[in-house]
Amino acid sequence: MPQQKTILRALAGETLPTPPIWMMRQAGRYLPEYKATRAQAGDFLSLCYNPELAAEVTLQPIRRYGFDAAILFADILLLPQALGADLWFVTGEGPRLSTITDQAGLDKLGPVDEIDAVLSPVYETVKILSRELPADTTLIGFAGAPWTVATYMIAGQGTPDQGPAHALKNENRPVFEALLAKITAGTIHYLSRQIDAGAEVVKIFDSWAGSLEGKDFVRYAIEPAREITAALKAKYPHIPVIAFPRGAGHRYEGLHAAIGADCIALDDGVTPNWAAGHVQIDGCVQGNLASRHMVTGGKDLIRETRKVVQAFSNGPHIFNLGHGITPDADPANVQLMIDTVRGI
Ligand code: CP3
Repeated sequence: MPQQKTILRALAGETLPTPPIWMMRQAGRYLPEYKATRAQAGDFLSLCYNPELAAEVTLQPIRRYGFDAAILFADILLLPQALGADLWFVTGEGPRLSTITDQAGLDKLGPVDEIDAVLSPVYETVKILSRELPADTTLIGFAGAPWTVATYMIAGQGTPDQGPAHALKNENRPVFEALLAKITAGTIHYLSRQIDAGAEVVKIFDSWAGSLEGKDFVRYAIEPAREITAALKAKYPHIPVIAFPRGAGHRYEGLHAAIGADCIALDDGVTPNWAAGHVQIDGCVQGNLASRHMVTGGKDLIRETRKVVQAFSNGPHIFNLGHGITPDADPANVQLMIDTVRGI
């Protein structure tokens, strides 16, 4: 059957006259309706584990803007929690977790086949969304990449340079690699259940891939993403995979083949012209307007949006930001970006 949904067509390698659009963190604090539903849920984690309300915030940006894809509302840190880590969010600061620094910490984690006890509300959210989304909107499931998830599990919080994770990698490689293997297995299980529940595409977020250098980038960013993709493709050959190794720079080149992904998501550290010539030649790309334009708007937004659309117009492209939209963004600038992409 020919594919109708625009995102799936782009992921299958089709060059479309207008690129389909969605936005990282499209359900988020820049939207008043998100803040209202989050207040109703009580806090961020309660929102993630409430299927009705999580589905509601997923749908809000679809109703407001008519994006071509919805991304499941959840967080990459729910998997560590399901594996047995303590997780909480400090308002205005971000996530906090219990830390893993040695074998004893690793041994405290539970088995991968028990994560559904915690994560089943997320699968329920996916089920609700596959019923309620408009027929032409694609549902994207996601997980964090093992390295990025590990950086939070090791440090117990976000870190500017992922120092604690690099330290464990350099000082106790067996424990570090065992942790990555555990997260990799958990991610395969978690994404499989999201697909079973109705996710049509999955995305692997490696937000901190850029801090891995040399062989470490290959071993701990590319290799786990390749392993997850291969395991999913074996079970679900028709489900496209988007890989987002943020901060890869010139190492974005060749990643379609190295990972086996259908699409490589680009941050704004590479220019659209460079990426068209070095990455998009291998397949679909997603990105890569700088998120700050959602704050600053105006002529710069229009010019840079057109630059991205133009540069990627000769191949398969999904329009997106280079990273998540920030809470200080103006919802009107999102509309201006969409109108500019669609030539309205
Ligand atoms: O709309 C979407 O994109 C889907 C939902 C989604 C969230 N987080 C919701 C969220 C997705 C795909 C994520 C991924 C995620 N979570 C990543 C990878 C992508 C990236 O941003 O680099 C990471 C590193 C996390 C971990 C995380 N979650 C951090 C570091 C924080 C705090 C920073 C912040 O922006 O506040 C979160 C919280 C979070 N996750 C929020 C949302 C909407 C804000 C929480 C709130 O409402 O208070």
